[in-house]
Amino acid sequence: MAKISVKVDGVTYSDDVEARMLLVHYLRESLGKVGTVVGCDTSNCGACTVHLDGRSVKSCNMLAVQADGHEVTTIEGLADGDTLHPVQQAFHDCHALQCGYCTPGMIMQATSFLKDNPTPTEHEVRVGMEGNLCRCTGYHNIVRAVLAAAGEGGGSQ
Ligand code: FES
Ligand code: FES
Repeated sequence: MAKISVKVDGVTYSDDVEARMLLVHYLRESLGKVGTVVGCDTSNCGACTVHLDGRSVKSCNMLAVQADGHEVTTIEGLADGDTLHPVQQAFHDCHALQCGYCTPGMIMQATSFLKDNPTPTEHEVRVGMEGNLCRCTGYHNIVRAVLAAAGEGGGSQ
């Protein structure tokens, strides 16, 4: 076991974890952050995307111990109280989800992407989101939502 201290969605947690525990399993099983989901476990789908110190990472692709001393934001920490983050709002407005399984990861990736490129072209959005897969193949509206969020300053938070 290893002792870790990690700030998740604004709250600092100190826990003993197995050295081999994946970050996504720590978030879901230890902290109950079930908004972060597992789609593949092989770092392909992006459903598990969270922010580590403000940058998107696939939480099935790193260990909980690697988050020690760092700050993690999940989909559950993105809204400001009852006010959705601009990217969340854009996904809602543009109907950018069908079953919704990929949506938390899509939103976390889009938020990180827009920080780097606040005024992307459609092509740049498609390239920036290529690590996130939607089994419902709703890519058209997802791209629309990211472009709409860019107009609303979606990378500013
Ligand atoms: S569950 Fe992490 S990339 Fe698919
Ligand atoms: S909305 Fe169903 S997997 Fe993307």
